[in-house]
Amino acid sequence: MRNKVTIVGSGNVGATAAHWIASKELGDVVLIDIVEGVPQGKGLDLLEAMPIEKRDSHVIGTNDYADTANSDIVVITAGIPRKPGMSRDDLLNTNHKIMKDVVSKAVQYSPKCILIIVSNPLDAMAQAAYKMSGLPRERVIGMAGVLDSARFRAFIAEELKVSVENVTAFVLGGHGDTMVPLPRYSTVAGIPITELMDKATVDRLVQRTRDGGAEIVKYLKTGSAYYAPSSAVAEMVEAILKDKKKILPCAAYLEGEYGIKGLYVGVPVKLGSKGIEKIIEIKLTSDEQAALNKSAEAVKELVAVIGV
Ligand code: LAC
Repeated sequence: MRNKVTIVGSGNVGATAAHWIASKELGDVVLIDIVEGVPQGKGLDLLEAMPIEKRDSHVIGTNDYADTANSDIVVITAGIPRKPGMSRDDLLNTNHKIMKDVVSKAVQYSPKCILIIVSNPLDAMAQAAYKMSGLPRERVIGMAGVLDSARFRAFIAEELKVSVENVTAFVLGGHGDTMVPLPRYSTVAGIPITELMDKATVDRLVQRTRDGGAEIVKYLKTGSAYYAPSSAVAEMVEAILKDKKKILPCAAYLEGEYGIKGLYVGVPVKLGSKGIEKIIEIKLTSDEQAALNKSAEAVKELVAVIGV
């Protein structure tokens, strides 16, 4: 039987995630939105591309949660994106309301699903979804670290003029201005970038990574990034559906790991068919741990505002 992936929200992130997932033939895709016609139109358009792509992924768009029943994965992208000058945190209350509505419906129809949360502010929305869904923490995962580290990787590859395939990177912490890129654990063919660039260059790339989302918002003006965010979703979906046991930075509910309790924060995890199969605790220097704590504090302030 084919896998089934529901994507809630048929805007740029949702529709482009459907595109990557269908074109990688990871499963059948259901695009759902409250807007009438848009998910149906985009779904049908994607379905019609499949003969050209030679992929047997069935894609539909709908406004009815009954069509999402028994999904293996539900990706939640619903919410408003930020405009220039806004931080992700400015979206808190509006997107929390939307989250409340969609999570309960999605889980009602797909009680066995794994939830991937994409809406911003990411960590707080993941925490809200986790609390509302009643699902175990293994099955509610936030997408941020894969995106943030992909940005860091792209900048490293460009700076050193090497293949992106040679570059790995880790960005931990919340998906916000306090995120924590870890240069010591970011490598080119296994060599830490701290041995390949001077400190000023590393610092510049770290800052560009932190500002990566805002850099795109500034260009687009009417919305935020979607190619890289949706590609990051597809990598997580693939790791889960193919039970790859892939180590990726994701937002996970910590219960004491890294000295943080009762909070969603980005950390390295092992993703497989059960969702988060392990939270990997890597050794941090005191400066790195302090940066992670500061980032966790920023997430804590947001979850306090919405009381989750
Ligand atoms: C970004 C938004 C989507 O980082 O959070 O581009």
